[in-house]
Amino acid sequence: MLLQVKNLSHTYDPDIKSNNYTLKDINFEVQKGEFIGLIGHTGSGKSTLVQTLNALIHPTKGEIIIDGQDITKIKNLKEIRKKVGLVFQYPEHQLFEENIAADVSFGPKNLGLNEDEVDRRVKQALEWVNLDYEEFKDRSPFRLSGGQQRRVAIAGVLAMEPEILILDEPTAGLDPKARVELINEIVNLKDKFGLTIILISHRMEEIAQLADRILVLESGKLVLEGSPSYVFDHDSYLEEIGLGIPQITSVMKRLKKKLKLSDMRTDIFTIEDAKQEILKVKRVKDVR
Ligand SMILES: Nc1ncnc2c1ncn2[C@@H]1O[C@H](COP(=O)(O)OP(=O)(O)OP(=O)(O)O)[C@@H](O)[C@H]1O
Ligand SMILES: [Mg+2]
Repeated sequence: MLLQVKNLSHTYDPDIKSNNYTLKDINFEVQKGEFIGLIGHTGSGKSTLVQTLNALIHPTKGEIIIDGQDITKIKNLKEIRKKVGLVFQYPEHQLFEENIAADVSFGPKNLGLNEDEVDRRVKQALEWVNLDYEEFKDRSPFRLSGGQQRRVAIAGVLAMEPEILILDEPTAGLDPKARVELINEIVNLKDKFGLTIILISHRMEEIAQLADRILVLESGKLVLEGSPSYVFDHDSYLEEIGLGIPQITSVMKRLKKKLKLSDMRTDIFTIEDAKQEILKVKRVKDVR
């Protein structure tokens, strides 16, 4: 097992006796190569949780074990950043160097790698996010489109070659085309390198299609966990805690109820799968 979170609690309140906890006794495990979707209503603690995973926040209580080591006990942050790369919400706000190559090389340089290795990683990381190295390396990150800026910021984290890549709402604010492109790049990285990914998103379609397993946070508690089929079968509960299910799943559930199609599957997350399922049910009905 790659990551194990045990009894993790966190309060931002300096007075820990106030009992004002943002994360409350969270437990979960992640296997190498898994794609985890992390969902929850705004303010439920998603960003706080992932910031504890790369030691940006030191949790008030609990253990975070990566490769057998409790990272809450490690003093050398570089060791942790090599293992866990975190792409923040709106990461482009953190670009600061004069040119793109300098920005992407900031992390690997800090790891103390030699110049050739840093160059190799910068080229590779830009290639991974589909930005041509020669075309972009000397350009200012501030003269790029929002989508390109976000890619540069993601490349900066990828250049650290982390074992676990965490993305906090990577597609927020992008147009549909840029969103699909970015998601495809993330999927490619996972397929190519067996990267372990934790993705936060408010887009249930995105999560349903990408995640092997979903974690649901509510008021700092981990309240539901399982495959997309399992989690999105809890539509009433999700609604109660301010979340929805993918639109197409909802259509299938309503169709099943209205037409009394007891055999129809509703763990459906894409239009294509919906079409196939409807055709299948129709064929069965025709034969009968
Ligand atoms: N630096 C901070 N100091 C104090 N309280 C904070 C801090 N950051 C977050 N909080 C509080 O912790 C709670 C969880 O916030 P967090 O940012 O983790 O939620 P989130 O699930 O990521 O929300 P969103 O979907 O809006 O990004 C909120 O009540 C928030 O106000
Ligand atoms: Mg957040």
